[in-house]
Amino acid sequence: MADPTPDAWQRLDAYFASTLVESDPALAAAVADQAAAGLPPIEVAPVNGKLLHLLARMSGARRVLEIGTLGAYSTIWLARGIPDDGWIVTIEAESRNAEVARANLDRAGVGDRVEIRVGRAADVLPTLAGELPFDLVFIDADKESNAIYLDWAAKLGRSGTVVVVDNVGRGGRVADPATVDPQVIGTQRGLELLGRDPRFDATALQTLDAKGWDGVAIALVV
Ligand code: DHB
Ligand code: MG
Repeated sequence: MADPTPDAWQRLDAYFASTLVESDPALAAAVADQAAAGLPPIEVAPVNGKLLHLLARMSGARRVLEIGTLGAYSTIWLARGIPDDGWIVTIEAESRNAEVARANLDRAGVGDRVEIRVGRAADVLPTLAGELPFDLVFIDADKESNAIYLDWAAKLGRSGTVVVVDNVGRGGRVADPATVDPQVIGTQRGLELLGRDPRFDATALQTLDAKGWDGVAIALVV
């Protein structure tokens, strides 16, 4: 098999997306309004949003926790994958992002099932203890804190909870033991936790999609 050239893998990703990922005007508008508001274009790729959506449906998730809302692109995908009476708590550190996200969620028709909590996730997460456990947790915020977020995912989940971590590849740099990039180090600490912590069973896949070369970790709370 040929090694992937940028042309070839971008064409394959576009083929997958156009063949398998239905277009959704609310998702397109969310991306456009996020850009217009000056937020960075770092939402998950369409094929990755569809993966989150399918994982929610496959796991029968009713309660979802998202850490890192940005403009709610991934939140909309997740919200479309839970029942009408399902519930999503999504945590966003930047109030400006949360405003954009709220408008995008409402326009998508899922605003009534999504609660945006504005604040640092490390401060918000402890306030969620004692509620019903979350069935699916998506971690996509400051990578430095991934290990802290995974610890909370286990505490706020239950046996069977699905945990997804975005950006675990970072252009291959996550395999560099000599890295000094705090985001890469944080990603490594999170993966190492998933590998050794008996509360989790996990794997990770490299991704080559509209967002470049990265990766996604998928874990089960055992
Ligand atoms: C960055 C963060 C993300 O969550 C992502 O998907 C891509 C890039 C970043 O901080 O650079
Ligand atoms: Mg991400």
